[in-house]
Amino acid sequence: GRTVRVALLGCGTVGREVARLLTEQADELAARAGAPVELAGIAVRRPDKHPELPRHLLTADAGALVESDVDVVVELIGGIEPVRGWLLSALRKGKSVVTANKALLAEYSAELSEAADAAGADLYFEAAVAGAIPLLRPLRESLAGDRITKVMGIVNGTTNYILSAMDSTGANYAETLEEASRLGYAEADPTADVDGYDAASKAAILASLAFHSRVTASDVHREGIAGVSSFDIAAAKALGRTVKLLAICERVTADDGTESVSARVHPVMIPRSHPLAAVGGAFNAVFVEADAAGELMFYGQGAGGAPTASAVLGDLVAVARNRVLGGRGPRESAHAALPVRPHLQT
Ligand code: NDP
Ligand code: HSE
Repeated sequence: GRTVRVALLGCGTVGREVARLLTEQADELAARAGAPVELAGIAVRRPDKHPELPRHLLTADAGALVESDVDVVVELIGGIEPVRGWLLSALRKGKSVVTANKALLAEYSAELSEAADAAGADLYFEAAVAGAIPLLRPLRESLAGDRITKVMGIVNGTTNYILSAMDSTGANYAETLEEASRLGYAEADPTADVDGYDAASKAAILASLAFHSRVTASDVHREGIAGVSSFDIAAAKALGRTVKLLAICERVTADDGTESVSARVHPVMIPRSHPLAAVGGAFNAVFVEADAAGELMFYGQGAGGAPTASAVLGDLVAVARNRVLGGRGPRESAHAALPVRPHLQT
């Protein structure tokens, strides 16, 4: 069969693990995709800072790499511009896109999915929410025949790492945040984590998929952990509770029967006996409630290079297989069904 040519945009915490797995597991990936999956180029900001990567694959010009003869674009740079333009251009030319970029998806997933649908291209983003945990594909595919009513859980590894450390050792907030950055959990600008923007982006993505709606980050009520003091943690402890930053997405039915979607992110004092209380470090856990399925729980590593790369590689195999077989992954519904409930942002 033909070779699937991959452009890798970004080779930092996540990208370098993707490049490693692509090379080390080339034979397995080829077997599962039905064709060899070949790294055609790697775009980074400063190629001279990457002596570990094959020189002939490296470029600083991500835009040109996207326009070159590649079938799939794997985007692991982050941020909105200029990435949005590159990905739209790739999709419009029928190239498949795999991305972990929740900030971009939380604002522009409608535009990106429409471009993908119009060109018959795939847009996969399992790694954008809850790292290694298979969560988006189950919501989009396995639960497509059910009616989801609630998605709730811990979706930011950095803040969970900090809150867990404060709870167990009374650790220093600033030092623990530095550690989370060193371990590759935090965003390039960690205020995205601590102020709840990252979790709000993820809540928007989850609510959009779960409720076939169009929720953007600004629709999500957001409060981060900056206001959580060691005093709060101690007070929670005295009450048999612990503090977790939760994302809560719900289908809401008004008295007149009309339905809407509500999404919020804020710290919650939960009983220590609750399963979410046992989620430590950079782990994530998400509960899904659906009419027929009842309650489901998803748990695993929510951040870090290798766990996130696992989800990226899974998507890469899926889009490569779709190309080889001439199929396509799940489409977003073209029309947003459920309205989003406005919130009072403080
Ligand atoms: P890093 O900051 O570690 O890596 C970013 C990479 O992008 C670097 O290789 C950098 O180049 C490159 N880059 C930046 N700007 C450009 C540009 N203009 N042109 C070409 N290359 C560029 O980020 P992460 O790997 O941590 O994150 C990547 C994405 O994955 C983000 O969207 C993030 O939100 C998401 N994500 C991250 C997770 C994590 O645990 N880290 C988990 C889930 C999602 P250079 O190396 O030269 O600086
Ligand atoms: N900064 C994010 C987190 C990375 O800590 O959860 C995973 O999306």
